[in-house]
Amino acid sequence: MTIFHINTAALATGFALITACSSLLAENDNEPVEPLALFAIMQEMGENMQTITAAIVSEDWETVVETSTLIADHPQPPLGEKIRILAFIGTDVSAFKDHDGKTHQAAQQLGQVAESEDGEAVIAAFADLQRSCLSCHQRFRQSFKAHFYGQQ
Ligand code: HEC
Repeated sequence: MTIFHINTAALATGFALITACSSLLAENDNEPVEPLALFAIMQEMGENMQTITAAIVSEDWETVVETSTLIADHPQPPLGEKIRILAFIGTDVSAFKDHDGKTHQAAQQLGQVAESEDGEAVIAAFADLQRSCLSCHQRFRQSFKAHFYGQQ
């Protein structure tokens, strides 16, 4: 499951509305900023990565299989937040989805490799998964921090 697997046509109205109202909605300087649901989802994936690192050390391949499934099928932010994010990333949406899809695939791949209990191959697949996280972060994280939290 990817973060943005949604019917874009059905979103068109809400999207336009939110775009029009976005200056009123978020990013109000006077109020404390609520973290995105996406942030909690990301933190959970970060914890999953730590679990996998520990499982590799113990050659506990079953845990690697189970935990990579959690990453591949990570939860999605609620619809309202997806709309906010889509309104913000605009034409970058396909790049964002593409990164998310790569992480999904890399996590699935890691799970399959872990089933074969080949430690070297698991480490290589884990590195690929980490790379997929890193490339989305390099492209998007800073602008999310700036836009949604007013951080520079
Ligand atoms: C499609 C883009 C995308 C992918 C893929 C992605 N992330 Fe993220 N990640 C983000 C964005 C955007 C943020 C900033 C969110 C925020 O600050 O609310 C973030 C933030 C995080 C954070 C919080 C750290 C911080 O303080 O900003 C962690 C942990 C994290 N990601 C882990 C992961 C892991 C692990 C993976 C891969 C398994 C991953 N992410 C894949 C976009 C992505």
